[in-house]
Amino acid sequence: MRIAVIGAGAVGSSVVELAGEYGHDVTAFADSRSAAVDAEGLDVDAVLDRKRTDGIVGDADLEDALSGPYDVLVEATPVTLGDAEPGMTHVEAALTRDRHVVLANKGPVAERYGDVRELEADSEGRVLFEATVGGAMPVLSTIADVGADHITAVRGVLNGTVNFVLSRMAAEGLDYEHVLAEAQDLGVAETDPSFDVEGTDTALKGVILANVLSEDREYTLDDAEVDGIVDIPGSVLELAREDGRTVRLIVEVREGEVRVGPRLVPENAALAPTGTYNTVQFETEHAGQLNVSGLGAGGPETASAILADVGRLDRS
Ligand code: HSE
Repeated sequence: MRIAVIGAGAVGSSVVELAGEYGHDVTAFADSRSAAVDAEGLDVDAVLDRKRTDGIVGDADLEDALSGPYDVLVEATPVTLGDAEPGMTHVEAALTRDRHVVLANKGPVAERYGDVRELEADSEGRVLFEATVGGAMPVLSTIADVGADHITAVRGVLNGTVNFVLSRMAAEGLDYEHVLAEAQDLGVAETDPSFDVEGTDTALKGVILANVLSEDREYTLDDAEVDGIVDIPGSVLELAREDGRTVRLIVEVREGEVRVGPRLVPENAALAPTGTYNTVQFETEHAGQLNVSGLGAGGPETASAILADVGRLDRS
């Protein structure tokens, strides 16, 4: 397949690096909002000329870029809330040209799912988005295999940064600020980790799951009940530990509700992965409980899910 990638952060760059290994050709476009990482040194063909900033290595008009020769657009620009722009414009530009879209950006399927499906219905192109929930883990493809109708609930630990912080707080008796600073030093947490620690990133994944599981209703972040981990004192984790339990930031999607918050779980439970690991647990109608675990973040890990989607489109 001929892939066009927009977004040259950790994920977009990894798609560019790995595409050849998966047998695909790639053209890369950096989005000007991520100019800090798009700057010199990255193998980018052009930077979309929306908002010029220093460090640009080329320029291109969106119309020209997305009219070019490619089969699949990989949209890997940063998530935005509300109108999900400019991600939505990129999705529309590709679908109206009958090209496929693979999303790394959660915005379009968390905030404008109905619009994405409508555009897809009018196009020869399809939209896949495995990488938006759980990075490398096959979460949406598990739902497709089991059948959304046969899944009664989904619970998950879906944020590696938060899980790293909670694991370290519990294991070392450290407080939140100390561990968060350590996670930033190690490059696990973003410089601005507010989306992670306030629960927004996890909630977006829950909303995407709700959209995929629902037949008759569209969800956005406004439908989710969200609590993060910023107010959890280290002493709570110590007390939980004395009782053989720990705290994890859990998303639950059940009966039309999306809830995110810190929950007490047994220390050795599937829903208590350690470090940056994620886990998703499906309750099914006939197959009992299914668990999928793995790495929910990281450039190459997330790129592997994107390239798996590209492979699905190639075979379809
Ligand atoms: N920042 C997220 C995490 C990955 O730490 O899991 C992107 O959703």
